[in-house]
Amino acid sequence: MNNGSKIRALVRGPILAAALLLSACQPPAGEPPLAGAAIGGPFTLTDQNGRRVSDGQFAGQYRLIYFGYTYCPDVCPTTLQKLMSGFSKFSQAAPDRAAKVQPIFITVDPERDTPAVMKSYVSAFSPRLIGLTGTDAEVAKVAKAYAVYYKKQEAQGASGYLMDHSSAPMLFGPDGAPIALAPADEGPDAVARMLDQWVK
Ligand code: NI
Repeated sequence: MNNGSKIRALVRGPILAAALLLSACQPPAGEPPLAGAAIGGPFTLTDQNGRRVSDGQFAGQYRLIYFGYTYCPDVCPTTLQKLMSGFSKFSQAAPDRAAKVQPIFITVDPERDTPAVMKSYVSAFSPRLIGLTGTDAEVAKVAKAYAVYYKKQEAQGASGYLMDHSSAPMLFGPDGAPIALAPADEGPDAVARMLDQWVK
């Protein structure tokens, strides 16, 4: 046994053990982080032009989905700005792949977020961004399917009531299966890297 193989024999045990430990809490290398998660599903909503839209229309496209509301004073505009700026960077670097991604903003506040309100809001972030709203029941259904929590607050903010809501933009595949969270909180470059990693 030469020195090299001795060292390899010594380290093989611990490395294997470490790999097994990792595999218990992480998907296998190359697997999307959200592979197999029960997130997503069919929906029918209304877009910013007043047209009825269902998930089937996005078949074959990646979907970059974020739930929020246009009256949100801080989190939503900041998240959308970073998310769409990351998408824009990815579009410049890989226009063909970016063309296969549909960014979608879904409101959790259908009471105030009418199609007209959504239209002026989404167009401020990107011409590619679609804004979806619906009835209370439609929004409740899609939020539940996509594991999004939201609740109207009793307290009033400067521009009316506030909504509590979870804020985690996510990438879904051409088949609608969840792929990964979009790390908008880490900035546009992190979003662009995530898209580059998963959009084929
Ligand atoms: Ni918000």
